[in-house]
Amino acid sequence: MRRATGHAPGRINLIGEHTDYNDGLVMPIALRLGVTVEAISGHDKTVRLTTDAAVEPREADYDIGAERRDGTWVDRARGVTAILSRDGAAVRGFDAQITSDLPLGAGLGSSAAFAIALLRAISKLFDLPIDDAATARIAHAAENEFAGARSGMLDQLASVYGRSSDALLIDMRDHGTQVIPLPPTIELAVIDSGTRHEHATGGYNQRRAECEEACLHLGVATLRDIDERPLDDIVERLPAPLDRRVRHVVTENARVRRAVKAVRSGDDAALGAILSASHRSLSDDYGVSTPELDQLVVLATDAGALGARMVGGGFGGSIIALARRGEGPGVAARVLERYGGTGKIVAIVP
Ligand code: GLA
Repeated sequence: MRRATGHAPGRINLIGEHTDYNDGLVMPIALRLGVTVEAISGHDKTVRLTTDAAVEPREADYDIGAERRDGTWVDRARGVTAILSRDGAAVRGFDAQITSDLPLGAGLGSSAAFAIALLRAISKLFDLPIDDAATARIAHAAENEFAGARSGMLDQLASVYGRSSDALLIDMRDHGTQVIPLPPTIELAVIDSGTRHEHATGGYNQRRAECEEACLHLGVATLRDIDERPLDDIVERLPAPLDRRVRHVVTENARVRRAVKAVRSGDDAALGAILSASHRSLSDDYGVSTPELDQLVVLATDAGALGARMVGGGFGGSIIALARRGEGPGVAARVLERYGGTGKIVAIVP
C-alpha cells in the first residue's frame, strides 16, 4: 500500500477569454487556492472517491476499465483513468480523498485543477512518467474526450505552468509562454457571483461550434488566421450571430496585445479600460455573460475599480476587478454590500 498527494491551483485570466480554442492569446494567473487529492493504492480495479466539497455525490466508486459517464464531477476522474489506460499506463485501483479551497464551478478552473491534482497523485502512486506537458494534455483529453466539455487548454496550462504573482502570456498556437510580471501598483479582486451554469450542456460547446462554422465560411483553419485582415471586411461576410462571435475573438486577441503593453509600461488606467472593454465584448458580442456578472462589473467600476470583467467560460461564475494596490478589499466589500446574498470575495491577487 502506498500513499501520495497531488495538488493543483485554480486560475484567473487577466485577459484573453474564449480565445484559447481559437488558437489565440491568453494571460492567466494561478490562484493560491486549489484542489488537493490524497490517494492510497489498492489491490483491485476499484477507484473510491470521497470529497469534502459541497457537490453531489460526496462519495463514488467505479472500476478501471468500466468507466461510464454519468454527468457528475466523477466523470473528470473516470476520464483521467480511462485516458491513462488507453495510453497504456499501468493504473490500478485506489482510494482518494479530495479537498478544495477553490470554489467549484465559479469559472476559476476547478475542473482542470481536480484532474491535474488527481493525475499528480496517481502518477506518484504508480510511478508513471508523466511530465507537466503530458499532465495538461491528459487532463484536457479527460475533459474533452470523456466528460464531453469541448474546452480549450487554458485552464490546464494555467494550472500546470501558471504563477501566482505574474501573468503568463500563452500563445495557444504553439503553447509558447512568456512571463509578464504584474506592476506593484495594482491588484485584482476576484468576486464569485454565486450563480452557476453547467458548461458541458450549456452554451460553451455552442460557442465553439459557432467559431468552427465561421472558419468554414471564411475558409481558414482557425480564427487566429484572420488576425491581420481588416475586421470590417470579414464581419460583413458572416451571417448573424457568427459576425459578432468572430468580432469578439479577433478584438480580444488585440486586447491581449494591448494589455501586455499596458502592464509593461505600468499604465494601470489603460489596463483597466481594456478589461472593461473585454467584458462588453464578451457580453454584447460573444453572449456568455449573465445579468449578475454584468451587474457585478458595473458595481465594481462604481466602487472605484479601474476596470472589471467576467472571467472564465461565463454563464455564471466570477468577475475580476482591477484595483490600485491595497484598494482591492475595499472595492470588493463595497461591491458585495450592493450585490447582496450570493456574492463572495474569493481572493485578492497577487
Ligand atoms: C473555460 C474553458 C477554457 C476557456 C475559458 C474561456 O474556462 O475551460 O478552455 O475556453 O472557458 O476563456
